[in-house]
Amino acid sequence: MIKISPSILSADFARLRDEIQRIEHAADWLHVDVMDGHFVPNLTIGPPVVRAIKKYTNLPLDVHLMMTNPDDFIPLFADSGANYLTVHVEVCHHLHRTVNEIKKRGMKAGVSLNPATSLSLVEEILGDVDMILIMTVNPGFGGQKFIPASLPKIRRLRQQLEDRQLAHIEIEVDGGISAANIREVAEAGATVFVAGSAVFDSPDPAETIRQMKIAV
Ligand code: DX5
Ligand code: ZN
Repeated sequence: MIKISPSILSADFARLRDEIQRIEHAADWLHVDVMDGHFVPNLTIGPPVVRAIKKYTNLPLDVHLMMTNPDDFIPLFADSGANYLTVHVEVCHHLHRTVNEIKKRGMKAGVSLNPATSLSLVEEILGDVDMILIMTVNPGFGGQKFIPASLPKIRRLRQQLEDRQLAHIEIEVDGGISAANIREVAEAGATVFVAGSAVFDSPDPAETIRQMKIAV
């Protein structure tokens, strides 16, 4: 069964509580994009907002750290109520330590790769993670176009996980996902689908999530 993790990046921040309530019963997780203005050319939100959201949603919080120093913030995100904490392989010099710190704090650990980052960089950490996040756009903004070269990359990761008896690890995809392409991305082997603009820019976000599930 696939999971949909709507990204609040495309929600109306001035009405965040209402926006989340609209999708609460249709979504599986809630994706929170943390951007630091260094790793990506945009700034968004941090632990105080995660903490505020946690009070009024039962959805698991899927926190995506697009920042150069994620290690400094692991305790803060744990205390704020993050369930999944995903870091980028491009900035972690001691990824094994980072992943284990996340798990020690009671969260599930995700590792993300930018479109130009080789899968070989996560080969040695696969046995330790709960999720690999394949970026299907260059991170920083919602509403970008899905990069088609992501499909063979997802297929190769799926094959590696099967070969190594690690098929329980989630493959999450993020960027340009909609009802129009979700099926082929699922067929390539992804299991968790982030969707920002496709969900929150639609007239009925909960119905859009249902349509995405039907499309798979
Ligand atoms: C992009 C973020 C995404 C973004 C996806 O840097 O990581 O989570 O919200 O937005 P869409 O679904 O509109 O591409
Ligand atoms: Zn994201």
